[in-house]
Amino acid sequence: MCQCSDNGANIKEVAREKALAEAMERYAGTKGSLIPLLQEAQEIYGYLPGEVMRQIAARLGIPFSKVYGVATFYTQFHLQPRGRNIIRVCQGTACHVRGAARVLETLTSYLGIGKNETTPDGSFTLETVACLGSCGLAPVMMINEETYGRLTPEKIRAILDSYRDQEPAAVGL
Ligand code: FES
Repeated sequence: MCQCSDNGANIKEVAREKALAEAMERYAGTKGSLIPLLQEAQEIYGYLPGEVMRQIAARLGIPFSKVYGVATFYTQFHLQPRGRNIIRVCQGTACHVRGAARVLETLTSYLGIGKNETTPDGSFTLETVACLGSCGLAPVMMINEETYGRLTPEKIRAILDSYRDQEPAAVGL
């Protein structure tokens, strides 16, 4: 809990700790507060670090195992850091028929990561979903809020490159 450094990372960390402390203060003593507090903590940190879950358990006066159980039960919670861009590849029936496997294969080999993993530079996290609701455009993926359809390996590589081009040279998670 260093508050002595003036470098950007520590300033960010102190701001996160302060925001978490305020959130815990707001929810402490309120029934049914675990899920909203976890959601807020995830908004602050981008995921749920073990230490944050331990602090939440202590503040709410509940066992860590309960906090961990809830965090791992709901898919909305992430226990590992996620990338700045979230790729969701459709594996639904329409996309499956039109080559979803090849889309996933292209993504994993081009990014060098597997499903539910994040690239070492923190640019992309790769996830799969059942249907993105754009079956007419199959095969489909989304990056953040943007939908991309009728994907081919060439198109996928160009799309990924366009995201990489937008990134500043050195950005921390
Ligand atoms: S099955 Fe892929 S968008 Fe519906």
